Amino acid sequence: MRATPVPEFMLEPAYDPSGSGRDPIGAGALASKGLNVRHGTILTLEDINVSFDGFKALTNLTLYIGVGELRCIIGPNGAGKTTMMDVITGKTRPDNGVAYFGETLDLTQMSEVEIAQSGIGRKFQKPTVFEALSVFENLELAQKTNKSVWASLRAKLTGEQKDRIDDVLQTIKLDASRQRPAGLLSHGQKQFLEIGMLLVQDPQLLLLDEPVAGMTDAETEFTAELFKSLARKHSLMVVEHDMGFVGSIADHVTVLHQGSVLAEGSLEQVQADERVIEVYLGR
Ligand SMILES: Nc1ncnc2c1ncn2[C@@H]1O[C@H](COP(=O)(O)OP(=O)(O)O)[C@@H](O)[C@H]1O
Ligand SMILES: [Mg+2]
Repeated sequence: MRATPVPEFMLEPAYDPSGSGRDPIGAGALASKGLNVRHGTILTLEDINVSFDGFKALTNLTLYIGVGELRCIIGPNGAGKTTMMDVITGKTRPDNGVAYFGETLDLTQMSEVEIAQSGIGRKFQKPTVFEALSVFENLELAQKTNKSVWASLRAKLTGEQKDRIDDVLQTIKLDASRQRPAGLLSHGQKQFLEIGMLLVQDPQLLLLDEPVAGMTDAETEFTAELFKSLARKHSLMVVEHDMGFVGSIADHVTVLHQGSVLAEGSLEQVQADERVIEVYLGR
């Protein structure tokens, strides 16, 4: 989701950390650069359970994403991929289980806004750009909504913010279209703009749900290059059905099935796994 401005004082710990042995959420930890990733793990999910009216969408889901990793998540429809992203972003609360961003941020105790501001950016399947606004204005708006009121008021940041938008325009190859209304962009360009709207917020972890659906081959290829260039500086979790695309970007693949991890490894490893072939890839 896109964060709305929240005064900094509202970002105090929303839970009582006493006795947990973990640090409270402090201002330093909330700034994404201050994220504590001592053990090289940016995202920890352990034994996550989610049920909807008795139907188990996630069952003891356990998964770790390393700092700077580009992880692909595959699996049949209904496997729980989107629900997992809903848990990470605070949209859905797990019935139980552990969800941490870095070492200290307990995602199950944070609001959606706090999670977005702590450095987790999510791109949904359908682009949600503001069609009447220019490409540049879309990026400007996306950048501002993730800043605290205090930060937006600090005039000296304006130059830096503008530079960041310029960088992002180059990265998503929309520099020449910066003044165009977003409504006039192609479907693929709208998707790139939306990725740009995440990047101006400088998230450490990016969640991307079926990013190349509906793209042309050339756009899919550019997306692969883009994601590879974002990895290491950012951590990425990419849900995608397009195996050609997955093969071109993934060093590590997780297969979800019925709300749990069925297999994990290189694409070659999971593609050779009998159970994966059975439930997903087909014979
Ligand atoms: N809000 C909800 N209410 C009821 N059932 C849901 C809800 N969200 C997801 N589900 C169910 O949970 C399962 C997992 O869905 P989802 O996470 O969307 O799977 P995927 O993204 O892997 O296709 C599906 O069977 C889906 O119908
Ligand atoms: Mg889904």
